[in-house]
Amino acid sequence: MNYTESAYAKLNLALDILGRRPDGYHDMRMVMQSIDLADQVTLSPRSEPGISVSTDLPYLPKGDGNIAAKAAARFFEATGLPCPGFDIDIFKQIPVCAGMAGGSSDGAAVLRILRRLYVPDMTEERLEEIGALVGSDVPYCVRGGTVLAEGRGERLSALPPLPPCWLVVCKPACSISTPELFAQVRVKKLRCHPDIPGMTAALEQGDLEGVARRLYNVFEDVLPRRYSQVFEVKSSLLELGAMAASMTGSGPSVFGIFREEDPAARAVDALLPLGVSAFLCRTAQPRP
Ligand code: C5P
Repeated sequence: MNYTESAYAKLNLALDILGRRPDGYHDMRMVMQSIDLADQVTLSPRSEPGISVSTDLPYLPKGDGNIAAKAAARFFEATGLPCPGFDIDIFKQIPVCAGMAGGSSDGAAVLRILRRLYVPDMTEERLEEIGALVGSDVPYCVRGGTVLAEGRGERLSALPPLPPCWLVVCKPACSISTPELFAQVRVKKLRCHPDIPGMTAALEQGDLEGVARRLYNVFEDVLPRRYSQVFEVKSSLLELGAMAASMTGSGPSVFGIFREEDPAARAVDALLPLGVSAFLCRTAQPRP
């Protein structure tokens, strides 16, 4: 028997960095949104012990180095259950190293499958706690939807859903290292911060325009000059009719919000010849 789960990508509608912590991480305040761009994660029990990971991208780690294997290992450590043998197969659709939490979402999908199989009455909070042992974005990816994430990213509060819209997500060809970008941040020197209370109020009122007006990611302020393609793609999205556009996570992916499908689909067609990957997406919510 195989068990398959969609692992949804996330976007940051807002990303703020509040300070550096003694443990080397940063305190964050982020509005997260899952979208229907998803990897497919399949878990197949096998008779030999151990966890192996295969993906359709040959350069991704196959064994313990893959976050999906790490998630499975943490699940069995945390529950004290014996770890049977598993093959985990991941069909990647979410661009890698793109600021969309693709790896974290694969790990979260493994956790959701294992809970269903072994501890179906485990609470969401407990599964998210196990997720926090795997990576900062994993608790959010376990839950999905529209969420305020604070602390290292593990303190989650549900928000009203983003009003219906179309999201054009664009991954420039470059890759950005998350720790390297965090290292660029001098919190006191950040010029602006997102208006997260205003964004939350807009979500409560179902005001898409109000949310779009407040898209903001402080990482854009510290992006080294060599990543100028991020700003080019952002400008293109706005020229193509996006209500607003922003980088997501530590980039380099950029997304634009559109009210209507047709202009969003035309934007995807117009962006592809620029040598970027572009996806037409809607919001998504993992099944419990
Ligand atoms: O937790 P995760 O392994 O996903 O984090 C990757 C890196 O991102 C960390 O090693 C750290 O450099 C940085 N990070 C941070 N503050 C956070 C989350 C991540 O500094 N809240």
